[in-house]
Amino acid sequence: MMLCWGEGHASPIHDHADSHCFMKMLEGTLREVRFDWPKENDGSATDAACEQLNQKGSSLLELNKVCYINDSMGLHRVENPSHVDGAVSLHLYSPPYDTCHIFNQQTGKKAEAKVTFWSRYGAKVSPVTTPESCTPVVNSCCTEITE
Ligand SMILES: [Fe+2]
Repeated sequence: MMLCWGEGHASPIHDHADSHCFMKMLEGTLREVRFDWPKENDGSATDAACEQLNQKGSSLLELNKVCYINDSMGLHRVENPSHVDGAVSLHLYSPPYDTCHIFNQQTGKKAEAKVTFWSRYGAKVSPVTTPESCTPVVNSCCTEITE
């Protein structure tokens, strides 16, 4: 799928549902911030964590850079650090997934979230009804290009 990031947009901190995640920058720059899994449940239990997530690294992803993450490497948040420029990123998930977990940075508490799309195959999807999502709040230019 392809994601378009408005100025200052950011994803929640999330896992990847035992999937492999590749991300390539097509335009602009994003920042990836990585975190360890919550200590108390190591990601396997729900609602148990109550400790701030440990941030273990941060990197800038510039044009044409590719990054990779899977659940054994921890969690991450992706954000557009620019207040003037958008960014576009291409994401490949293998296998694909419909739900993941998002995490509260302050408490480590996790919640299930559905992957949502603005459009599929060029056609706008009906309005998103879930309050929590693995994907960021996005502009109207976001288009899924593969499934
Ligand atoms: Fe991700």
